[in-house]
Amino acid sequence: MVFKNKKLSAACIRDFPILKKRVHGKRFVFLDSAASTQKPQAVIDAMSACYKNYYANVHRGIYQFSERASEAYEEVREKVRSFINAGSTREIIFTRNATESINLVAYSWGKANIRKGDEILITEMEHHANLVPWQELAKEHGAKVRYVPITGRGRLDLDAFESMISVKTKIVAFAHVSNVLGTINPAAKLVQIARKKSPAIVLVDGAQSVPHLPVDVQAIGADFYVFSAHKMLGPSGVGVLHGREEILSEMRPFMTGGDMISKVTFEGAQWNDLPWKFEAGTPDIAGVIGFGAALDYLSAFGMKTVQAYEEKLTARALPALLAIPGVEVYGPKETRDRSSAIAFSVGDAHPHDIASIFDEEGIAIRAGDHCAQPLHEKLGVPATARASFYLYNTPADIEALIRGVYKVKKIFRV
Ligand SMILES: Cc1ncc(COP(=O)(O)O)c(C=O)c1O
Repeated sequence: MVFKNKKLSAACIRDFPILKKRVHGKRFVFLDSAASTQKPQAVIDAMSACYKNYYANVHRGIYQFSERASEAYEEVREKVRSFINAGSTREIIFTRNATESINLVAYSWGKANIRKGDEILITEMEHHANLVPWQELAKEHGAKVRYVPITGRGRLDLDAFESMISVKTKIVAFAHVSNVLGTINPAAKLVQIARKKSPAIVLVDGAQSVPHLPVDVQAIGADFYVFSAHKMLGPSGVGVLHGREEILSEMRPFMTGGDMISKVTFEGAQWNDLPWKFEAGTPDIAGVIGFGAALDYLSAFGMKTVQAYEEKLTARALPALLAIPGVEVYGPKETRDRSSAIAFSVGDAHPHDIASIFDEEGIAIRAGDHCAQPLHEKLGVPATARASFYLYNTPADIEALIRGVYKVKKIFRV
């Protein structure tokens, strides 16, 4: 029984200092990991050790600490490569976050390749990060953004996906996992369809998948795969762009300046090799090193275990929420191909009121449009409440969630 997984439950209690805090005199219950996760002591220690013991700028200094910091920074690139099974560290680019990774592709590949009349195919369930950059690119180049619809069950309409792709499609971009519906999209299958029917490059937004399930970018076969460290126990300020080497080699840099050049004269510049060609300026050195500790932490459990554990939590929470009269759950009602983000409403109670009532109980949930306004428009609601789980949540947290919902019902007479 996964709930008896000693390593996992011990981790909850021991490794995350913030989870021992009290809020409004109550046990702190954190159910907002889809927005950003809490950090284990190992991550905090790794960053602090860097600053205390060997901090210096990377890739520049010919002295001990700079070399040590550079080594530690580059070791994390290898950890990321291995974590997502990429072919080479040349394909792993550190950015600030998933949003910047997507913008990098939109600006660099998009501006060079998108022409009037081209189509960019995304889905109705995208986070603004994987929507606005494409809208802007399309506007500037006379291209069109098309949206694959979702079904009434909160799944991507695969037939529509297939029928909307054509030789006109130059970019296909979709979330591997929806941050609102929790839907897990069949990424490898979508890439295959895109390859068969179009010349499009494919970008997968992995912001909600890499933290929660095993991801093998070679098996998925997309051209680009993006995610953020802060959603997987790492610090904020670090993101990843995985790109296929042959495409990255042809792309122009997104930003220019220090570190990304091999030679500069008064007349011009030559670019550095991959991956540094895309890493202009001083990176978040301690942040990347902290991210390495987060990857070690997750790897010690294994992502299969993390996924199975979260599935158990979701399998408790979903039916319990669905069974409460007046509660509506958005997204798939079954745990199959579903992650642990659960958006819901309670009668007519405004999600901000729901979140405030939860806060009084020491429970943190998210309320709003979760940076997915078009999706909420499609769902016919301006906002939802959202609970999301991670490896440090426990069955007691699910019980707290359900108790919170009953308190909302009582106050709003739902
Ligand atoms: C599906 C999805 N994509 C992209 C993002 C953007 O991530 P970041 O803000 O770290 O760039 C998020 C963040 O919530 C997300 O859930």
